[in-house]
Amino acid sequence: MLRGRDLLSLMEFKPDEVIMLLEMSKSLKARYHAGEIIVPIHAGKTAILIFEKPSTRTRVSTSVAAYQLGMNVIVTSAQELQLGRGETVADTARTLSRYVHVIAARVYSHSSLEELAQYADVPVINLLSDKFHPLQALADALTLWEKKGKLSGLKVAFVGDVGNNVAASLAVIGSKLGWEVRLIGPRQLWRNDISKLSDDADKTGASIYQSDSLEDVKGVDAVYTDVWVSMGFEKEAEERVRLLRPYQVDGRVMSLAGPQALFMHCLPAHRGQEVTDDVIDGPRSVVWDQAENRLHTAKAALAALTP
Ligand code: CP
Ligand code: NVA
Repeated sequence: MLRGRDLLSLMEFKPDEVIMLLEMSKSLKARYHAGEIIVPIHAGKTAILIFEKPSTRTRVSTSVAAYQLGMNVIVTSAQELQLGRGETVADTARTLSRYVHVIAARVYSHSSLEELAQYADVPVINLLSDKFHPLQALADALTLWEKKGKLSGLKVAFVGDVGNNVAASLAVIGSKLGWEVRLIGPRQLWRNDISKLSDDADKTGASIYQSDSLEDVKGVDAVYTDVWVSMGFEKEAEERVRLLRPYQVDGRVMSLAGPQALFMHCLPAHRGQEVTDDVIDGPRSVVWDQAENRLHTAKAALAALTP
């Protein structure tokens, strides 16, 4: 059903297709922990992972996932390819399609991924763009499913830079799974594309809304935060830190949320900025489970999409 498809934002997947990817992730994780690490369903095929920006979790989890599916993996910076000397994205896509079975990329501009997808004959997977981080959202949903015992009807508050890629992908997956997603941050950083991100809400009962009040963390299943200055936004650092300082997730915010609330972060964290050490290292933090789940969800995505 998903074979050969691109994964650029998750918006292109129906709710039942997202659930299928999560069920596959859960099953691959169970098999992994039972000792069945290698599931060579794509033996002999090749994945290329292209990075315009740094990465630890995505680079390693996606590479390991591909190896565990029996694939060969090429990891490269964009700079090392002729792309770095001005070869077009379209010509790169056409060329790579003759060698590899899947192209995954982390890019500054989401439009580069769209162009890759337009000209490639093989699936293109988003490893993070300025707009979306869909593989992260899959890992986040798997983590919440494990911790809260359900996939739908969850309430999640994203606190901080509500305009960023991770917040967008959380809203998209929440809309597919019937969540209440509260995007809490300063009005200056509010998004104007909420209705697009929540286009499945009518079908799933999801609600996605923005607020500038930390009071809105009350009663959520999880409080999620991310860095205040995403990669590519360094020029705006000073202004963002000024706007976001009141939105640090500390012990007080977690108390306001209530004892049922987990703490989530996609990592890397700027400790002492968007989150305090006591919260990220505290008993309600599930950040290492999120990080582990990047492996199992990447494996499911590659397993399902690779032709
Ligand atoms: N969460 C995440 O994507 O981490 P990396 O930037 O280390 O890949
Ligand atoms: N929003 C962050 C996520 C890093 C995984 C960034 O884009 O830098």
